[in-house]
Amino acid sequence: MNGGRRLTVLGAGLLGLTHAARMASLGFDVLGVDTDHVKVDQLNAGHLPIYEPGLGELLRAGLDAGRVRFTTSYHEAAAFGDVHFICTGTPQQPGSGHADLSQVHACMSALVPLLDRPCLIAGKSTVPVGTARRLAAELAGACEGAELAWNPEFLREGTAVADTLAPDSIVAGVTSRRAGASLRQVHARPIANGSSFFATDLETAELAKTAANAFLATKISFINAMAEVCEAAGGDVRSLARILGADPRIGPAFLHAGLGYGGGCLPKDVRAFMARAKDLDVGEAVAFLREVDAINLRRRARAADLTLELAGGNLAGVPVCVLGAAFKPGSDDVRDSPALDVAQILTGMGACVTVYDPAALDNARRARPELCYAGTLAEAAQDAHVVLLLTEWPEFAELTPGSLDGTVARRNIIDARNALDPVPWREAGWQFRALGVAEDTHAIARLDPTHS
Ligand code: UGA
Repeated sequence: MNGGRRLTVLGAGLLGLTHAARMASLGFDVLGVDTDHVKVDQLNAGHLPIYEPGLGELLRAGLDAGRVRFTTSYHEAAAFGDVHFICTGTPQQPGSGHADLSQVHACMSALVPLLDRPCLIAGKSTVPVGTARRLAAELAGACEGAELAWNPEFLREGTAVADTLAPDSIVAGVTSRRAGASLRQVHARPIANGSSFFATDLETAELAKTAANAFLATKISFINAMAEVCEAAGGDVRSLARILGADPRIGPAFLHAGLGYGGGCLPKDVRAFMARAKDLDVGEAVAFLREVDAINLRRRARAADLTLELAGGNLAGVPVCVLGAAFKPGSDDVRDSPALDVAQILTGMGACVTVYDPAALDNARRARPELCYAGTLAEAAQDAHVVLLLTEWPEFAELTPGSLDGTVARRNIIDARNALDPVPWREAGWQFRALGVAEDTHAIARLDPTHS
């Protein structure tokens, strides 16, 4: 077994497609496999079924160069690949915090019986620690010459292409030097360009991903906990985050306070980590993650409470404009979207909510068909009594009070992502509220970066 030039990517979601496009751009021959034949046909025709800036171009370049193609056939995949990358989803199990590994298992069950030559199977999906060791044992019993490794991926939605082309680190969980050398060879170019390469055991590799996401979620919830304190005590969490972030031991990343984290990764990974730690009898070690999750969800309730307050204590029949449906800007993903959750809570409180998002409307309509949607910002804001900025898309962050004049019925705005400057809004007569900023915070208290 060596790194080989022929790779398969099993699962054509964001992770698989980004990995396939990246590997093709690095000169490998890549076969992408997905059980959804409609998606496979779309991809072979050069159509990207998801919104991810720059990914369509990278993928089409691979298709045009004949370096990547897609199939539904595991027979083809088994015959083709020197290294097989598992890129299937591991969502949260309904009614439990555990990860649902059924797609990973289905992928292994489809591939392994068809393998008839030495190869490496490298998992990229986020899995609970211990999964790879178990799969490796099953593989060893089923197929001589095939080996299992874990090679977690750290890319973010919205910046997946840049993250994947120049990752900070590449982690290879392996059980042999050969497997480590094989993964090092596959990732040779980014390593040569400065990405750190860590060869380690399977468990540490799995934990590297789980722990990273748990840490990021904790950092976000920490600053959101400070936001709660600021609201009560009269501080400004944005200034606080800037001050804390200037300390190199803390750093500014992931200290943006607001509506909290959502998406298909951090929420379910935090919960899966807690569930797995409990299974391992070390639940107490990560018990703090319960609080991380709770702080995160409290921000959504707080946004709804502020809306109620601005509406005068009764939301029944009150027109409310929700700006944002995606879990973050630059993405059309609405999985565990804080914005849609708030829209749903407000609807439950009797408000007439209209949601607008520049990219995620189709997915939002599918996920929450019971909500009302508008095709433009102006339409969503028409006659609104309260406007909520819930996803910090640039077109929302650039809003000015003048741009909503003559559209809204009442001048109330909640900036749940700390994307707007309150001063011009307040000067224009708006009731402006933000998460983590006390209502009566003096403008003078805002931190001016040009002054020390
Ligand atoms: C996250 C991790 O950042 C990636 O490293 C990881 O590979 C990925 O999960 C995954 O497991 O696949 P992603 O979910 O795409 O990436 O998005 P993030 O940029 O991490 O943002 C997550 C959520 O946190 C968003 O809702 C965002 O709005 C929120 N956030 C982020 C904050 O509220 N404050 C911040 O300071 C940063």
